[in-house]
Amino acid sequence: MRFDVITLFPELFDAHLTVGITRRAFESRQVDVRLWPLRDFAEDTYRRVDDRPFGGGPGMVMLAGPLERALAAVKAQRGAAPVIHFSPTGRVLDQALVRELAQSPGAVLLCGRYEGIDQRVLDRHVTLEISLGDFVLSGGELPALALLDAVARLQDGVLGDAQSHQQDSFSDGLLDCPHFSRPELLPADESGPERPVPPVLLSGHHAEIARWRREQSLRLTAQRRPDLIVAARAAGQLSPADERFLAGLPK
Ligand SMILES: C[S@@+](CC[C@H](N)C(=O)[O-])C[C@H]1O[C@@H](n2cnc3c(N)ncnc32)[C@H](O)[C@@H]1O
Repeated sequence: MRFDVITLFPELFDAHLTVGITRRAFESRQVDVRLWPLRDFAEDTYRRVDDRPFGGGPGMVMLAGPLERALAAVKAQRGAAPVIHFSPTGRVLDQALVRELAQSPGAVLLCGRYEGIDQRVLDRHVTLEISLGDFVLSGGELPALALLDAVARLQDGVLGDAQSHQQDSFSDGLLDCPHFSRPELLPADESGPERPVPPVLLSGHHAEIARWRREQSLRLTAQRRPDLIVAARAAGQLSPADERFLAGLPK
């Protein structure tokens, strides 16, 4: 799997590709990330990659020329590939899309800056626009890193425990359950009374623990993301026991 990232700020990627558990995927090139500094494709002496917008208004627009030369250079090296542009106007990134991309041969990632990219470049080359959510960042690099991280952790052998991502939020359509570790009893302090670990987690009964975790997921999802319950039901992901539990929750 290969991702070619066209960006004005390649230095933003270094730390993220070399630390943490996903580093394994990037360093082994299981997820092969190639950075293409956009300024290398500028042609004038000032290495200019932006200019004022036609029609006036604030901000600058990323020029078609350097972007098209960068896209052509990537294509010459790897052949045709889907081109993803990060934009608040795109499809919001979710785990379903991450799973799809995690099984794909990769893509070219186009990171915008300033007011954005000349629309003609997008119309000509982009196959998918992805948004990180309904807010505005200053560039597409953080969305690109979010995508690379989410895709890398789904690759075989990247997480220490292969089952780990199967228990994460969204993998079964629900939000994840809460997690606890030592100490068994968190002592009282000025911020509140003592807090024990839920006793079932110390019981050693695997079936009861699994049921408790499932119910915590159902409760949290029903409270915070009822839309996910509706979708899980429609997808046949809720058992009769799940439905009984949900029916017993306070309305
Ligand atoms: C300041 S933003 C431009 C915002 C654009 N004028 C708009 O209002 O839709 C600069 C760049 O950041 C990236 N960006 C900003 N917010 C984003 C988001 N929510 N999701 C994905 N990319 C985003 C895009 O690549 C965008 O071209």
